[in-house]
Amino acid sequence: MIIASNFKTNHNRVSTKEFVDFINSQHFFSEVRIYPPFTAFDDFDLTPNIRVGAQNFYPVEKGSFTGEIGFEQLQEFDIDTLLIGHSERRHILGESQESICEKYNFAKSKECEIVYCVGEPKEIREQGIESVMSYIWSQFDGIDIDYDDLVVAYEPVWAIGTGLSASLEDIQEVLDALRLKIKAPLLYGGSVKVETTKDILCIENCDGVLVGTASWDKNSFSKMIEIADNFKEQV
Ligand code: PGA
Repeated sequence: MIIASNFKTNHNRVSTKEFVDFINSQHFFSEVRIYPPFTAFDDFDLTPNIRVGAQNFYPVEKGSFTGEIGFEQLQEFDIDTLLIGHSERRHILGESQESICEKYNFAKSKECEIVYCVGEPKEIREQGIESVMSYIWSQFDGIDIDYDDLVVAYEPVWAIGTGLSASLEDIQEVLDALRLKIKAPLLYGGSVKVETTKDILCIENCDGVLVGTASWDKNSFSKMIEIADNFKEQV
């Protein structure tokens, strides 16, 4: 099981350290990932199944790219797990599939773990599962799905930050379709809450969750990890 928290533009350096120290002090078996803002990276002393990663980066070692963060800056904090293709970057920040591929290939060349996010907007969902899957497969254009440090997160755009989670049937349908071609662990994300975590993790082919809003409170996030620890074999 992989339980991941995407802080997005929340928490500062002090509150991130408190959060990470709190999670780090618990004993659990699940794989935990925490993606804070860049400014909150620190010299964390982590147990092996917890990793802190980056929500974004610019695919260069270093250079003249004003306002960007390159790999040299990530390495200073031992960051080796990266979110790529998150819907907020695709749809709000206007990241193209081409630039997502550049990031993917760069991260792959650095042997980082990649949590690759895909998911359809509402108007595509309304057209039915065939349109949903053809939209999602197009988000794999140029992406090596056989990369061995890949995790795929299915996150329907209309479910992110809206409080409207996809139904268990919808999640299962997409994860089953992804599983036919992808052997990497598959996560679900989109308004996951403590109360819904168990049912989502029970879905066959669901290997974990990527959580925004409900994970920003350390007690809630810790409860989600506890739920994952309690009932499923580790991936
Ligand atoms: P949410 O965000 O849990 O707030 O819907 C999920 C995500 O963006 O990864």
